[in-house]
Amino acid sequence: MRKKVIAGNWKMNMLPNEAISFIEKLAHMVEKTENEVILCVPYTDLFYSLLTAQNTNIKIGAQNMHWEEKGAYTGEISGKMLKSLGVEYVIIGHSERRQYFLETDEIVNKKTKAALKNELKPIVCVGETLEQRETGIQEQVITTQTKLALEGLDKEQLQNVIVAYEPVWAIGTGKTATSEDANEAIKSIRNQIEKDFGRDVSESIIILYGGSVKPENSKELFSMSDIDGGLVGGASLKVDDFEKIILA
Ligand code: 13P
Repeated sequence: MRKKVIAGNWKMNMLPNEAISFIEKLAHMVEKTENEVILCVPYTDLFYSLLTAQNTNIKIGAQNMHWEEKGAYTGEISGKMLKSLGVEYVIIGHSERRQYFLETDEIVNKKTKAALKNELKPIVCVGETLEQRETGIQEQVITTQTKLALEGLDKEQLQNVIVAYEPVWAIGTGKTATSEDANEAIKSIRNQIEKDFGRDVSESIIILYGGSVKPENSKELFSMSDIDGGLVGGASLKVDDFEKIILA
């Protein structure tokens, strides 16, 4: 049985004082859950979030990192830096990074490898655009993104990787993929992983759905055979909504 994982992605929201009070509230609400609860916060919230989340079952992640350990990369943060704070997870290749910051599959692969090298668990995002879905090439797009993101990793490393299927057209739009469509897409990601790494890996790897997950649709989505939880944007900014999603 794969564990259920609910990860919030705060994107560019929340000041440190807001992060602290959010985590204090959420920690009580989810005290008893057996699901893995992760909050991926802005860099500027990491320190206070880690401190506040100590001795709770909330894990803290970052939303991006550079693939080099150090050097002349003004404004960048490395995996080694994240690890030194005690960060456990890091989102890699979010569609907003691919779209606005021109991250390619090659960069996503380099970052995934660097995350693992620094003992961070990457949450690797893949997903098709509306245009790609309308032309019927969504499966090809997401399986290729998956293959390229994970290229060169070994089976053991895959145990620390989470994949998130986030159709771009469903992010922040209020449009959710139907649970059947999301499940189908995630099955095709699992099949690709089986081809590349074997059945044991494809059956144990955690694959999340992201894109307008809310309290009203989370239960149905998370009850599908291949969906192991969610990567939640907007609804992870409201503590009551996020609690409902975690407990769904
Ligand atoms: P929304 O839940 O706001 O659609 O965002 C999804 C997302 O991008 C999570 O990474």
